[in-house]
Amino acid sequence: PDPDLARDVARALRTIRDFPEPGVVFKDFTPLLLDVPLRDRVVADVVARRGSGVDLVIGIEARGFILGSVIAHGLGTGFVPVRKAGKLPSTTHAVSYSLEYGEATIEVHQDAIPAGARVLIVDDVLATGGTAAAAVELVRRTQGEVVALEVILEIGFLQGRSRLTGTTVHALLTD
Ligand code: PRP
Repeated sequence: PDPDLARDVARALRTIRDFPEPGVVFKDFTPLLLDVPLRDRVVADVVARRGSGVDLVIGIEARGFILGSVIAHGLGTGFVPVRKAGKLPSTTHAVSYSLEYGEATIEVHQDAIPAGARVLIVDDVLATGGTAAAAVELVRRTQGEVVALEVILEIGFLQGRSRLTGTTVHALLTD
């Protein structure tokens, strides 16, 4: 157990107002990536919680790639990128979801996740939950099994969890 982890990660996040547009308060996690002991504690925390119950880690573009890769390394598993539409070269499953204005699509390679594989989904932030719910649906299409979603930060008032019923969600911090 690492009782000070959430406090220390909260201190490492940098708050940038009016990014990427006026009115948005952006939480920048890049300082966490420069703090190697803290980054290692974040990985160790996930490893302690998930143990040997994960076969593959999925990271969601783009910040989920960074966290997902180090967590996959810590767990000793392979890593699968979930990418925005049109970026993956081979045959994909694709799931679309609605944004405040318009629609987004994410994809995964069809052969990346064997049927029955236990999959951990990693991202930096859970906001409205649209992205995470689409990632869960992608895993379902491959007949993989979602063990949990792990994020650094959950924006509580956006109620992203309500789009993830049936999925275990763990957030290190809730804002
Ligand atoms: C952010 C964040 C999550 C997603 C959360 O990614 O990294 O993936 O939004 O939002 P939601 O819960 O409302 O779906 P973004 O789309 O900014 O992509 P990027 O990491 O490539 O900049």
